[in-house]
Amino acid sequence: MTERLNVVVGVTGGIAAYKAVGVIRLLVLAGHDVHVVATDAALRFVGRPTLEAISRNPVHTDLYEGVAQVRHVAIGQAADLIVVAPATANTIAKLATGLADDLLGNTILASRAPVVIAPAMHTEMWQNPATVANIATLRSRGVTVVGPGVGQLTGADSGPGRMVEPEEIVSSALAALRTKDLLGKRIVVTAGGTREALDPVRYIGNRSSGKQGVAIALAAAARGADVTLIGANLEVSAPASIHVKHVVSTLELADAVALAAEEADIVIMAAAVADYRPESVAQSKIKKETQGDRLTLELVKNPDILAGLADTRRAGQIIVGFAAETERDADAMIEIGRVKIARKGSDYLLVNRVGWNEGFATDGNSVVMLDRLGDIVMEASGSKSSIADRLLDVLARAR
Ligand code: CTP
Repeated sequence: MTERLNVVVGVTGGIAAYKAVGVIRLLVLAGHDVHVVATDAALRFVGRPTLEAISRNPVHTDLYEGVAQVRHVAIGQAADLIVVAPATANTIAKLATGLADDLLGNTILASRAPVVIAPAMHTEMWQNPATVANIATLRSRGVTVVGPGVGQLTGADSGPGRMVEPEEIVSSALAALRTKDLLGKRIVVTAGGTREALDPVRYIGNRSSGKQGVAIALAAAARGADVTLIGANLEVSAPASIHVKHVVSTLELADAVALAAEEADIVIMAAAVADYRPESVAQSKIKKETQGDRLTLELVKNPDILAGLADTRRAGQIIVGFAAETERDADAMIEIGRVKIARKGSDYLLVNRVGWNEGFATDGNSVVMLDRLGDIVMEASGSKSSIADRLLDVLARAR
């Protein structure tokens, strides 16, 4: 999204308020105009100078300041998007009731912009029937609830209640503005790279981080899809808002995909799949003393999951593959893609270049998308999330 948005970030009084600084920073770096409305309690956790320096705008807290500019409604009226991070149980209760006893409450009530909240609280508070009911109320009114994640909380306790990371809050928040053109569609995305064990401590693997697949899963969820992410050894944190199934090897991935694909409308194979696995896996560590100067590994071919999905697809089901190629010449790379899609039988294939310093674990990517006839239907370069959206644009139209 290149448009400069007026984003209000509401910061409320929880220990996770320090992470709100990260949310504000990401929004500013993405080119948006960020206005912080903090509660008094929030300013006990994070200082006004920090929030002002990072947002590059004055921080508003007081209902009775700026009365001449009718500030209690002006901030909300001008907002394109409101993000409340962290959202405490108390703030959630106030929002659900429509209370306006502070500037944030007034701002939200006076706004027609999408509201995204990132709850942060202890597990007992999150699971309390009052909070459960308040969250249901907010959801029913169209508020987007991001998280909470499961993990270490402020004290010695851990469980659901941890505020999700700033990156996920920002991507979900910007996603709230998007059209829901994949509403109700069941989409399976595989991400990461499979590993084949040699012995209990070693494996054959590849350098795929899972970033592109995770970006696709997040973008699809933002557009209303019901997403299952199958992650093979992800090096990026799996989004808390998406159902994730973790796998290690190609055979595990094959089983998980086969199961998920039964119900899916679209399957996107972004995972880098090991084509071969050791014929036998040593049950104890392979030792130099027994191997000598050379070690020969006998590998057997893994099933081609993508080709199998394409073979058995239901009418109307869309199967999408990726092809990571090291070919330097652009035309030759596309030609390799054409041969590959013909061999695999998928509906689409996204070809991207990889190399020692390209494609893997980077934030950007560059792809050419081919259809079954080998025609180019989309070309894109940019962030992995922008590429995800361009891919989904094609799939949303293809339906
Ligand atoms: N793929 C798969 N099962 C495999 C290998 C690959 O499902 N055993 C999928 C990948 O997830 C990807 C697509 O097929 O979507 C292309 O993967 P790639 O590794 O580029 O193709 P290969 O079949 O390995 O072809 P080649 O060896 O010619 O590169």
